[in-house]
Amino acid sequence: MKFDTPATTNPIDQLKVIGKPTDRIEGPLKTSGQAPYAYEQHQAVANQAYGFMVGSAIAKGRISHIDLDAAEAAPGVLAIVTAANAGKLGKGKYNSAPLLAGPEVQHYHQAVALVVAETFEQARAAAQLVKVDYVAAKGEFELANVRDQGVEDDELPDVTHGDFDSAFAAAPVKFDQTYTTPDQSHAMMEPHATLAAWKGDHLTLWTSNQMIAWSVGDVATTLGLPKENVRLISPYIGGGFGGKLFIRADAILAALGARLANRPVKVALARPQMANNTTHRPATIQRIRLGATADGKLSAIAHEGWSGNLKDGKVEVAAQPSQLLYAGENRRVTMRRAPLDLPEGNSMRAPGEAPGLMALEIAMDEMAEQLKLDPIQFRILNDTQVDPVKTERPFSQRRLIECLQTGAEKFGWNQRNATPGSRREGRWLIGMGVAAAFRNNLLLKSGARVRLERDGKVTVETDMTDIGTGSYTIIAQTAAEMMGVNLADVSVHLGDSSFPVSSGSGGQFGGNCSTAGVYAACMKLREAVAGKLGMSGSDIEFTDGQVRAGGKALPLRDAAKNGVIEAEDSIEFADLAKQYQQSTFGAHFVEVAVDAATGEVRVRRMLAVCAAGRILNPKAARSQVIGAMTMGVGAALMEELAVDKRLGFFVNHDLAGYEVPVHADIPHQEVIFLDETDPISSPMKAKGVGELGICGVSAAVANAIYNATGARVRDYPITLDKILDSLPEMI
Ligand code: MOS
Repeated sequence: MKFDTPATTNPIDQLKVIGKPTDRIEGPLKTSGQAPYAYEQHQAVANQAYGFMVGSAIAKGRISHIDLDAAEAAPGVLAIVTAANAGKLGKGKYNSAPLLAGPEVQHYHQAVALVVAETFEQARAAAQLVKVDYVAAKGEFELANVRDQGVEDDELPDVTHGDFDSAFAAAPVKFDQTYTTPDQSHAMMEPHATLAAWKGDHLTLWTSNQMIAWSVGDVATTLGLPKENVRLISPYIGGGFGGKLFIRADAILAALGARLANRPVKVALARPQMANNTTHRPATIQRIRLGATADGKLSAIAHEGWSGNLKDGKVEVAAQPSQLLYAGENRRVTMRRAPLDLPEGNSMRAPGEAPGLMALEIAMDEMAEQLKLDPIQFRILNDTQVDPVKTERPFSQRRLIECLQTGAEKFGWNQRNATPGSRREGRWLIGMGVAAAFRNNLLLKSGARVRLERDGKVTVETDMTDIGTGSYTIIAQTAAEMMGVNLADVSVHLGDSSFPVSSGSGGQFGGNCSTAGVYAACMKLREAVAGKLGMSGSDIEFTDGQVRAGGKALPLRDAAKNGVIEAEDSIEFADLAKQYQQSTFGAHFVEVAVDAATGEVRVRRMLAVCAAGRILNPKAARSQVIGAMTMGVGAALMEELAVDKRLGFFVNHDLAGYEVPVHADIPHQEVIFLDETDPISSPMKAKGVGELGICGVSAAVANAIYNATGARVRDYPITLDKILDSLPEMI
């Protein structure tokens, strides 16, 4: 199904199942431990052996010698994979460094060997006996040192509009500051893990992966197999956040280990291997210049960013939101990618917008203060209903102003005193902050297969993944709505490359796109069912287990009584994405208390107001948003991969050293969804929220800290050492 004209009234609008805060249909399996995650596929295949990875101890250079004698002689050892016996490996499209090093080493903890043994403990013990000699080369590990070597990147070609330099020079009010965001780790609960089994030259991988079709392609390229010989199965995923968009070393090593040991092998990265072996969100430096008229209209916007990566890696598109978020006739938006020898940087929840708004939305707060405007008023003054660079393109929907105003009212923004440090409760300094949220709405082709079974039940199959977001549930809701059956009569099968290719989970596109694909397949199934029942007419309805048209009603199940009816289709997005700018919007409000003596920050209240099209399941969507808000607090106050600048690795590579918020850090969160549908986005009229929820949160925290204390911190995370010197004198 081509989606090329705005959606009109359609079967989804019945809203009998869609739009309801349904519990997760796979929830009981997960809470009872019966949902098999990759490393728990004990029943999938017999005779599983265990692999343990050895990671490089240098960041750059080469391996001069590997001594395997002691490891090979260790109890239980079956095989040891190294570059010497792995055969020629290709490089996947989505990997910027080989997943098995040798002889060259591109980054710290890049895999150099996999030890396969009868038990996990034997594999791990023998891995310590692998002796690797390296010749280290000098690497570059500090973004600030190499930013001037940065080059333009295809990911974000320079955007220039009007004449920034002249407009900025002429602006009555000017602002110019630089912000920094650190490297961050996805820190998902489930580590990267894969079970691999060969049958002849056919490979099956039970793994933990967001994008099945991409990853089948990359496994095939890496191992030199035809794509048809590779099957990926990834039904349950314990979090991804972008770190599982592509295959990682666990998948390739498990496949190589299984081939060498001639039996199924499973590999999980140990937690301390994850930060350096897999990807991370790259650090950024961002300079923002704003020019405005005295009454607060932006006339000049420049957002210039720098991030680092390995030479084949991509840039972190942090400056990108400044292309679209605010009006202003003169603009420059640039990103430069500088060469670094740290582990691979790549997408993490809202790549671009999340770190970009960490800077831009502090800058907006600072500029508002300079203009003596309320920060909400300043943002409203600079709203735009069209793409400010390509002004002939309207936004499909843009209700940023309503998000800000609704939030202000619900949060009690009028209680905020604009003078920093003016509200105190005992030892606590209290402040409020706001930030806009913005994340683009991406559209990817997505397919599904649906079946009406003989008993009248409906089955959906698609390679869509559920990374904890609720895909199972919203897909079941979609099929139930479309076919007019109860939710309990739909079964959903996901994450298997033998199913039709979906959008996958990423970029907050999965919810809207994958359900739209199911919608398309269901439209076909409805047609087939109507044909079987001899019914037709534009008034045809599928509802309450019945098919109704022209005053006639027949049970849906009658259509399949002589055999299953199956339909398959994809949703394909056409020109609407070019004619309209599609984005999601929101506003984040945060209240903090800062200890006047120690600088300790406690977040007291948080509110997000989101405008993101139809909300398919308010419960699942709320979970996404509060999770993202929590992650935004982590980014604001705690999260930082600490770089060892001599040796080139992330030092705090486990959950003891890499701090993320816990329950006690997050006392109260509220989420409001504006009631909207976006008919330009898809037949579902939905968009995404999973990433919108993090966008702007950290700046709202930073702005609240400023309001509480007068400490303006432009370098994340905002740890108390950065606040201490700015705290007001104690009385
Ligand atoms: Mo997302 S960072 O595209 O999983």
